Amino acid sequence: MNAQAHNIGRAGSQSPTAHRLLGNPLDFIHEDHMRERTFCAALIDLACTETAMADLAGKIAEFLGQELPLHIADEEQDLFPLLRRRCMKEDEIGRVLERLHTDRRHAAINTPTVLTILKKFAAGTELSGEDSAALSTFADHSRRHLILENAVILPLARVRLTSEDLDTLRLRMMQRRGLDRLMERPHAE
Ligand SMILES: [Fe+2]
Repeated sequence: MNAQAHNIGRAGSQSPTAHRLLGNPLDFIHEDHMRERTFCAALIDLACTETAMADLAGKIAEFLGQELPLHIADEEQDLFPLLRRRCMKEDEIGRVLERLHTDRRHAAINTPTVLTILKKFAAGTELSGEDSAALSTFADHSRRHLILENAVILPLARVRLTSEDLDTLRLRMMQRRGLDRLMERPHAE
């Protein structure tokens, strides 16, 4: 199997991040990053392929439109504020978060365009050169963002956050996914 087929195959068989990983919410966030990386690789391959990949385009659109917004909220609303509170001056967390925030603003502006392209492709329309370039650029930016988060943000979080912080983060992530209500009704259908 060549690298392109491998990336496309992996992305096509991806399942959402398992809720059991919320035992350590940082493990859950790390797994989300692995999924995002796989979808980025598939997006770049999709931009180069001449084969119809409607199913895959639909899966990537689903990830970008439904799962990624939850992940972004986990980080922006909960993880990053906790890091601001706990990090030491020498961590320079403010500078790192400012850069991530700027990246995110650009990604948020480009996401609707990428979703439109993917939906057109999923519906059978061929990609134009401009469409392919937009997909590749979006994936490249996302991958750079992921490298920074995996190399700096998660290692700092593992060192600086307290067990109470992790409990807070877990609860907020569960609430965001409606899982806290399930826990309150263990015998619910
Ligand atoms: Fe992230």
